Amino acid sequence: MTEDAPKKLFIKTYGCQMNVYDSERMAEALGAKGYVTTEVAEEADMVLLNTCHIREKAAEKVYSDLGRLRPLKQAKPDLKIGVAGCVAQAEGEEILRRMPLVDLVVGPQSYHRLPEMVEAKGKVIDTDFPEEDKFDHLPERKALRGPTAFLTVQEGCDKFCAFCVVPYTRGAEVSRPVPRLLAEARDLVSRGVREITLLGQNVNGYHGEGEGGAWGLGRLIREMAGIEGLERLRYTTSHPNDMDDDLIAAHGEVPQLMPYLHLPVQSGSDRILKAMNRKHTAEEYLRLIERIRAARPDILLSSDFIVAFPGETDRDFEDTMDLIREVRFGAAFSFKYSARPGTPAAEKPELPAELADARLHALQALITEQQHAAQKAMVGRQVGVLYEKAGRLPGQMVGKSDHLHAVHVQDPTAKVGELVQVRIVEAGPNSLRGERLQP
Ligand code: 5AD
Ligand code: SF4
Repeated sequence: MTEDAPKKLFIKTYGCQMNVYDSERMAEALGAKGYVTTEVAEEADMVLLNTCHIREKAAEKVYSDLGRLRPLKQAKPDLKIGVAGCVAQAEGEEILRRMPLVDLVVGPQSYHRLPEMVEAKGKVIDTDFPEEDKFDHLPERKALRGPTAFLTVQEGCDKFCAFCVVPYTRGAEVSRPVPRLLAEARDLVSRGVREITLLGQNVNGYHGEGEGGAWGLGRLIREMAGIEGLERLRYTTSHPNDMDDDLIAAHGEVPQLMPYLHLPVQSGSDRILKAMNRKHTAEEYLRLIERIRAARPDILLSSDFIVAFPGETDRDFEDTMDLIREVRFGAAFSFKYSARPGTPAAEKPELPAELADARLHALQALITEQQHAAQKAMVGRQVGVLYEKAGRLPGQMVGKSDHLHAVHVQDPTAKVGELVQVRIVEAGPNSLRGERLQP
């Protein structure tokens, strides 16, 4: 039953964009039970940590954050504390054992059951992979929205890269059916959204049921581009081996599909790629990039890299640096290898921490150089900018360019949600400055 005074829900989201989407949907599910979200943990009736298990640091952060909630729980014994997401999935009851202040543990495939779980007495735990699609059991989204939104189209992963927990925590690849996604996209647009980022752990492996059989991501994107009022589409995150011809062609043919692609390669060494079970070579990745650039010459590329994977030699690392020099990325995320329990790579001896630090440092320096070069290259160019919020200076708006750069524009009469044409006039270290072109 919904009570008169709204209860307050504080959600902290760790890790990836899928978790950002999941947190939004959990907030909506709990909204049906009378919860409204708050930014202030101290005033919450429920604190939910939506966790990430991908690297040890991310997972351990959850335990230290839970420790920090102790005084709050002591002062407010009715406070409910929940752990959701991939740490919940991977560690289950261990969380209740290690942290008795936790009331509920819910895995990423079960959060549609949250509304029942919050009403249960005592401790509850649900880390099933249920048959039903959780998205079908969530309440409809009604509130007006900002101009950008995520939409999960695919979950899980069958790739089993040797370092990665995702296939274990998120389970096998599942694609949501086309009609549901189109309905959800239309609904988002009707509530003010102008840019949708399609999400999946292996989003370009999408193969959801549509008219006439299974559709690939390229076809889904072409269909979504037909939704009136939907100005921009993006997708993340992809595996090189799932970039099919139709999707590559879509980059050249669908104006709504923005010229930015996150395509993780992890390493530039064939030996390490093989040990990682990535199932492609550095050369194959480079040829793929050529084809993508042929379809969309101004596309900005980003990637993920892992340094100091077990067995990585100086030569292997240099191969990664060479690949980066050859591709010229506009952005990248890079990580020191972190051994994850239950993954094949965790059986192998780790490299010394100082070596990992030094390689990460060198790789990040190169990426930063390329990122700045890509930002400088935007100066003088005309790009679209979708305003997402007001800037810190009076009359200033902040939005994202087509290439996903943050852009500041002096535009005192503009509103959030406007998509405007801008000339880039300056490149700072973290953002660009643009001048609006009339009208
Ligand atoms: N150690 C370090 N980085 C990892 N990633 C995934 N698993 C690990 C791990 N065990 C990185 C990969 C992936 C990104 C989401 O996180 O680069 O693409
Ligand atoms: Fe993890 Fe590899 Fe699947 Fe990406 S493709 S989620 S890195 S197993």
